[in-house]
Amino acid sequence: MKFFLDTADLDEIRTGLDWGMVDGITTNPSLIAQQGKSYLPTVREIARLVPGPVSGEVLATDPEGMLDEAHRLADLADNVVVKLPLSPVGLKIAAQLADEDIETNVTLCFSAAQALLAAKAGATYISPFVGRLDDVGQSGMELIEQIVTVYENYDYDTEVLVASVRHPMHVVEAAILGADVATVPFKVLAQLYKHPLTDAGLDRFLADWQKTGRSFDD
Ligand code: G3P
Repeated sequence: MKFFLDTADLDEIRTGLDWGMVDGITTNPSLIAQQGKSYLPTVREIARLVPGPVSGEVLATDPEGMLDEAHRLADLADNVVVKLPLSPVGLKIAAQLADEDIETNVTLCFSAAQALLAAKAGATYISPFVGRLDDVGQSGMELIEQIVTVYENYDYDTEVLVASVRHPMHVVEAAILGADVATVPFKVLAQLYKHPLTDAGLDRFLADWQKTGRSFDD
């Protein structure tokens, strides 16, 4: 399973890369706005820092504007993936970009029907938002299960990128279901490492050895 960081914070990205667990980055307008920086330069800077795919989202909603922004994003660097909203216009542009060999990430997916359309359009990634579905009392993971099944039934190449991840169990459940990617906030990446028994076990090992009064070398 690939892990992407869902952030536009360069410090978080540097730390995640240093830990060796970050395969790519997803951004969205809200995440870039939080950084208080300019839009395109931020995507460019992230793409320079990260060897893997970096999703940058279009802001336009009309076909011409969307295509123009998609090309400007794709021109920033080879690893930029153009993020498009799930709408008739978004999927039309996704199909056009697929013909041009430009990778796309179709975002704001909340149903298996939408995911099926994105695969038919030739999207590289589909981003179902599990946390936001859970928030309104629907099961995000049920949606992942449906999409994985549908894509397997028809051998679609579109990768299932689980987004709106809120806690480690979202990641584990997505992995059990065979999702290709989980994009996680930095906080969730850090939580994945943690278990109280690991901390307690390490404390006990070190304390037991310290009692002997010996060092590593003797
Ligand atoms: O990148 C989009 C997605 O992951 C947003 O997550 O927590 O705002 O629902 P959230």
